[in-house]
Amino acid sequence: MKKIVTLATVALSGFSLVACSSDKNTDNLAKIQDKGKMVVAMSPEFAPFEFKTLIDGKDTIVGADVELAKAIGDELGVDVEFSAMSFDNVLASLKSGKADLAISGISATAERQKSYDFSDSYYESKNVIIIQKDKLQALDTVDDFASQSVVVQKGSIQETIAKDNLTDANITPLTKVGEMVSEVANGKADALVLEEAIAKGYLEKNANLAVSSVELPSDDADAYAVAMPKGSKKLTKKVNDVIKSLKEEDKINTFVQEAYDLSVKE
Ligand code: ARG
Repeated sequence: MKKIVTLATVALSGFSLVACSSDKNTDNLAKIQDKGKMVVAMSPEFAPFEFKTLIDGKDTIVGADVELAKAIGDELGVDVEFSAMSFDNVLASLKSGKADLAISGISATAERQKSYDFSDSYYESKNVIIIQKDKLQALDTVDDFASQSVVVQKGSIQETIAKDNLTDANITPLTKVGEMVSEVANGKADALVLEEAIAKGYLEKNANLAVSSVELPSDDADAYAVAMPKGSKKLTKKVNDVIKSLKEEDKINTFVQEAYDLSVKE
């Protein structure tokens, strides 16, 4: 009896070993290459990384993340399809299999790394608090934000950062960055927490807004990376190759600058 059990165990573990080493079944790279296309999840209300604009009269998703996605598509030799959704659904779409990659200014936090694979980072980010210019004096310390209304993007790390640092503020998550900015611009909310590179365009367009002198902590893990479902080791390597060569040619900064120029021109 014992012998049979042992044999069965050996046979079983042998089977699972074979299953694990079969690339086709376990790596998302093969899945994408078989399909001939990669679906990229993003929330396109985040200029200069992803936003919608009219190109030849057609609503088109553009931005630095779009250029990065296209470069990855070229490297893999597949078509790129963008799937637009609200930011709080972007990572979940990898789990449900709706998307193959998520490129949406996503910070590769330790918490998210437990559930998703991430590429190397491609852009450093820094958090800022935006308020009305005439409140610069009044909202000058963390304590000044007590019982003030602060809006953040739902599902973003800024939601946590605001809660952890502006502990006595009333924090409300909203779906779109544009809504957040309008709330503060028209005085419905007192402040919003956003990353500097995104805030820049809104500050350019809204003369009554400014960056508060209150600094929020920024972490290395806040830097943007491409997210993929777990089991994407080979895909991650390819994505890292693309990021490395784009960085070497300083292309990411060029993409960001070009997209920024386009976004403020509207
Ligand atoms: N970097 C922040 C995060 O990962 C915000 C990203 C928001 N992206 C967007 N496309 N709205 O949580």
